[in-house]
This record gives sequence, structure tokens and C-alpha cells, in this order.
Amino acid sequence: MKTAVVTGSESGMGLAIRRELVAQGWRVLGVDLPGKGAEVEADLSTAAGRDGAAAAILAASGGRLDGVAANAGVDVPRPELVLGLNYHGVVDLLNRLRPALATARGARVAVNVSNSIFVTPGIPTEPVDALLGGNTGEAIRLLRSAPQLAYVVSKLATARWIRRVAPTADWAGSGISLNGVCPGAVRTPLLEHDLGDPAKGPIIERLPRPLGEFTPPEAVARLFEFLLGDGGRFLVGQLLVIDGGNEAAWRGADTPQPWDIDGADFMKLIGMDSIASPATPAS
Ligand code: NAI
Repeated sequence: MKTAVVTGSESGMGLAIRRELVAQGWRVLGVDLPGKGAEVEADLSTAAGRDGAAAAILAASGGRLDGVAANAGVDVPRPELVLGLNYHGVVDLLNRLRPALATARGARVAVNVSNSIFVTPGIPTEPVDALLGGNTGEAIRLLRSAPQLAYVVSKLATARWIRRVAPTADWAGSGISLNGVCPGAVRTPLLEHDLGDPAKGPIIERLPRPLGEFTPPEAVARLFEFLLGDGGRFLVGQLLVIDGGNEAAWRGADTPQPWDIDGADFMKLIGMDSIASPATPAS
């Protein structure tokens, strides 16, 4: 039986992912805050919590993991907590679990990011760069005057980390397919909380819904199950938007963009010095 870790496994999408994986025959090790009923109890927003969680997961899995759904996240105007859970609770935990994933030879990881990284105007990149550069204190300082932006900053940094590391020797080179899932508004306790926020609530209510409804947690759970299963093998470093059409309605005309790289730089990238005719990479 294959073993998967699901963080934030006792509510919302995490609970739906747990149920979907169990229905498909997986053994699930849930991780959630103490008192929620998960197999592993930990506060993933702190280094000590992640340390304890990783030790408990490695003990329970025998040092071999077939999948991780890194799903736990919060949206509150508290940068230290939000960056601690949404960014470090993903990146640091996955780095600690990576050897167990590599041992499985063909493991998969899917991270719950958010479509907000595509549909939020003007996310500040300085705190994102600070986080990715390992300077969390600077990121928190930069967010002091706009703590409500901590969520999108944490999610954009996580998405860029996925893009950066997924194709490297440590991840794809170790047989691990790492990707991000970017849901739009999904009716969970987190969304109910945001709907009650006087600033965010009216915006969420007005989001385009080309399919006519918010995405149900079960639909997101099925995408996680696909990514962790056989179908996810050749997806690497992708950010899959599942939002019923919100992102396409707003950003459809912007993307994809042609790659802005000149011919000489491209040839350098593939290790050839000269170029006879315009390079056309095979699709
Ligand atoms: P939720 O609030 O229903 O569930 C979150 C789970 O994470 C809970 O079980 C909670 O106890 C756990 N958790 C919270 N703090 C924790 C900590 N410090 N350590 C360990 N576990 C902790 O949330 P929901 O909506 O299911 O969100 C799941 C993920 O999906 C989050 O990463 C969120 O950012 C993301 N997301 C949610 C969207 C939505 O509309 N609900 C949209 C896009 C992304």
C-alpha cells in the first residue's frame, strides 16, 4: 500500500484530499494542529513543530514516502504566522521529507498554492525575494505596513520555489514529481472566514465564475489524487489552476508569453556555441 502525507488533513480541502486518497487505496498520515485528530499532531508554522512532524512521519512511514499533499495554510493578517506556515511549513517540511520521497523512487508532491498568485494585482516582490533568499525577518519587516498581503506573498514565494527546484537533481533527478495546485475560491472554513472580512468578502463574491459556482473541495481533492497517482508522473514544476475559469477570464489574453531569450543565450543554455538557423526546439 502506498503512503501519503496530507498536511492540514482535518478540515476543508485537506480533509477532502485525505478522503479521496483513502478511497483510492492510499494509507494517509494526516498532519494537523494538536487536538484536531490527525495521526501526526504539530504546529507546522514553527521550526520545532516541523522538526517534530518530520520525525513522527519518518518513524510512521519507515523512511519511505510515496506522496505528500502539502496543503495546510492560513490567511490572517499576521505575517510571522502566515509566512511560517504557508511558506516554511511547505518548503522546510518538504526538504526534511525529501530523502524519504527519494527512497520511494517515483514519489509525487503536490502543494496547495492558490490562484491568488495570478489574479491579485501588484503583489510586492521584495518580500517574496527576501523569503526565497532565506531572509524571513526582512520579509516580515517589509510586510509590517501591509500585513494582509502576507498570504499572497507566501503563496507567490512557494510557487517560485516549486518552479525553481522541481526540475533539479534533488527533486526530478531523484524521481520526485513536484507541482503546485492553484485553486480559486473553494467553500471551506478558510473561505467562510475571508467572506466575512469587510475588505476581502465583497471582492470574493464578485470573482468571475464562468462555470457558475465556486470550486468544490472534492474537485480539488481529485486533482491532488491524480497528481499523486500514476497520472502525475510527467508533470514537473507546473502550477495547475483549478478555479472554474476565474484566472482564464481575467488573464486569458496575457498568457502564455513568448520566451524572451535571444538565440545566442538559448544556444548557450543547450550547450552549443553557434547557431546555423533560428533554433526551433521540438515541442
Ligand atoms: P481550512 O482552514 O479549512 O483548513 C486548513 C487546515 O490546516 C486545518 O485543518 C487547520 O487546522 C490546519 N492548520 C492551520 N494551521 C496549522 C498549523 N500551524 N500547523 C498545522 N496545521 C495547521 O483551509 P482550506 O480552505 O481547506 O485551505 C487549504 C489550503 O488551500 C491552504 O493552503 C489555503 O491557502 C489553500 N487555498 C484555499 C482556498 C479557499 O478558497 N479555501 C483557495 C486557494 C488556496
